[in-house]
Amino acid sequence: MTALPSGFLWGAATSPHQTEGNNLASDWWTNEHRSQGRLQLSGDADDSYHRYAEDMELLARAGLNAYRFGVEWARIEPVEGHVSRAALAHYRRMIDTALHLGLTPVVTLHHFTVPQWFAAAGGWMSDDGPRLFTRFVEQVTPILGGVEWVCTINEPNILALMGHFTQDALEAAERDLSAVVMPTPDAAIGRRLAEIHHEAAAVVRARTSAKVGWTVASQALTPTPGNEAKHAELQYLWEDLYLEAARDDDFVGVQAYTSQAVGPEGVIPHPPHPDNTLAGWAYRPDALGMAVRHAWDVTGGVPVLVTENGIATADDPRRIAYTRDALRGLLAAIDDGVDVRGYLHWSALDNYEWGRWEPTFGLVAVDRETFERRPKPSLAWLGDVARTAGAALDDNPSAAGRP
Ligand code: BGC
Repeated sequence: MTALPSGFLWGAATSPHQTEGNNLASDWWTNEHRSQGRLQLSGDADDSYHRYAEDMELLARAGLNAYRFGVEWARIEPVEGHVSRAALAHYRRMIDTALHLGLTPVVTLHHFTVPQWFAAAGGWMSDDGPRLFTRFVEQVTPILGGVEWVCTINEPNILALMGHFTQDALEAAERDLSAVVMPTPDAAIGRRLAEIHHEAAAVVRARTSAKVGWTVASQALTPTPGNEAKHAELQYLWEDLYLEAARDDDFVGVQAYTSQAVGPEGVIPHPPHPDNTLAGWAYRPDALGMAVRHAWDVTGGVPVLVTENGIATADDPRRIAYTRDALRGLLAAIDDGVDVRGYLHWSALDNYEWGRWEPTFGLVAVDRETFERRPKPSLAWLGDVARTAGAALDDNPSAAGRP
């Protein structure tokens, strides 16, 4: 059996905008409302701003020992320079609740959304961008006592392509998800984000005792024959630039869902297939093992924390099957010497999937009118895996009475 490092984290993850509801001062809120129906609205989301304790209790009761969640800049600094003490106190209560329940909090400082005023002022690429984010981080550090894990920026590589989605690409996505060609992340934005990450990490390190890292979206890209050079070029732009920037970090967050091939024109869209997930992605549980091995190689041995892995499906037994295989790949990588400190499943709850509600990634379903939480069998299953330090992966699911 795989020997896991002591204190291995078994948990689940969420982000503020996707679960809290009414994130009124954020750029995403504005974008949703200006999209003329193109994007579904986040609205009340899961109302986790008020129901976070219930969310965390469900995870802890199931047997998990960690919860990744974020603090929302747009709530903490809704207007430039105005820091909401109440919002900071709210996030401190979340940290206290997690600690009280025996959940190790993993706190993300930025997960895709920024305050409207920051976006209007030019965002990350403006001259003031780095200073404004660092100032925000300085406001947050006083509430981070007792937090051992801090992620600065979630998926900087996806952030570096977000501004580059053309209207055509978005319309194509509505028609057929599997046909979407993702734009390549912009290296200039990527380098700026790396600079901001390093500044933010220095602030967190100087003022707290937390380990600091950022979380990179893995693509598990593979070359098609003859396209090795194109693959190497894209692998750098998509991923390695961000992994290299993590070489001096305490850990690197790895987020993996699927794998894609690279052809002469670039990354090949997921071919339509009945096994594709509700996100339109190929069913590739092996992507997690590929991703952690790659992160380990490129960073030169920075400890890995799996900060996201999961599947968008309405079929919960399929979620269990996917996660079981993904975890087997993870444990094999650990057996081969990769230093992995934990596994955080995406996501704790069905939530707002950036413009759509249909792709359900949650271990827990949420009734969007009553906000009632309904744990799925996958939550109990992952809790068993956590409690048995992975041994339950080999249980016969039908003998255990579970799907
Ligand atoms: C993001 C999450 C998102 C998930 C599934 C990651 O890109 O960090 O916010 O919901 O993947 O798409």
